[in-house]
Amino acid sequence: MTDELLNHPGALTADVRPTASYTLRVNGVDRPVTDAWIGESLLYVLRERLGLAGAKDGCEQGECGACSIQVDGQLVNGCLVPAALAADSEINTVEGLSGAGGASDVQQALADSGAVQCGYCTPGMAMAVHDLLQRNHRPGEVEARQALCGNLCRCTGYRGALAAVQAVADAREAALEAELEAAEQAAGQAPPAGAPAAGPPSYPDQAGELPLYADSELWHEADQPAPPAPPAGQDDGTLRTGGYAYPPTPPHGTPVPADWAADPGAPGGAGAPGPFAGPGGTDPFGTTAYQDAGPYDGTVYATDGYGQYPGHDATGYDATPAHGIRLHEDENA
Ligand code: FES
Ligand code: FES
Repeated sequence: MTDELLNHPGALTADVRPTASYTLRVNGVDRPVTDAWIGESLLYVLRERLGLAGAKDGCEQGECGACSIQVDGQLVNGCLVPAALAADSEINTVEGLSGAGGASDVQQALADSGAVQCGYCTPGMAMAVHDLLQRNHRPGEVEARQALCGNLCRCTGYRGALAAVQAVADAREAALEAELEAAEQAAGQAPPAGAPAAGPPSYPDQAGELPLYADSELWHEADQPAPPAPPAGQDDGTLRTGGYAYPPTPPHGTPVPADWAADPGAPGGAGAPGPFAGPGGTDPFGTTAYQDAGPYDGTVYATDGYGQYPGHDATGYDATPAHGIRLHEDENA
């Protein structure tokens, strides 16, 4: 080749780059491309040969996302895809987002949320949001941030774009629910609009039991039966777990009630049993109360784990055997 070029200097000025002709299917329309250098990027062909200038040329090296388009449903940087390789693919550009010349809901939400200043990043951002919501109808903020992290915006920032993601997700969900409700009403399965809402689901074989997922969004406190009433005279108006109300904690400095001071279990105490007396004592509600530990008798408790019984520590729990100690026969079984 070198000898040929040297012997024919005119050949040096000729375009020796290989070309190809192919058809791109863009936004559902076949677009022929003729005699294009096979190294031309999809971004270049879309903009310069097919007149689709929506995708922007920001960096031509896959850094900014301004050229974001979809090829066979995948979001790609058009500047990194050789156009000739996309000949058999479905290509979607920002021009295909909107129908009948109007802005799509994504484009409108970006504009409404203040995500557009110079607008150079906006077509790529719109394609990224569109792609995200196709894959995930209810993205969280982290998912939205991840989806937009390849689209650089040099002048607006991302709060508007993130708000647009949520706004579109909300609007689409509301529209879908309204559509389903209308379809159910048409089929006679739903009460007419304005009818009282149906009560919570009941499970006859589990009467009186709490739902398994009491902290889930399916749990509605207002739907639950009223808690049992507290014993007479014990209701201070404060509901506690289980629906029982307990006497309020006395203010700091309040003297101990006389019958508490006379508790025989208390150090030096004597007299009539108090509410927290020994075995069989009762709390203010009449239920069995704690066993009073009584005064400290000076006993020194073992702390080495082998105080009282072989293999057990002073508390009666199994002690962890030392490394290498053989198991008992029944534990081997
Ligand atoms: Fe393609 Fe910047 S122009 S990523
Ligand atoms: Fe200007 Fe994003 S609006 S770069």
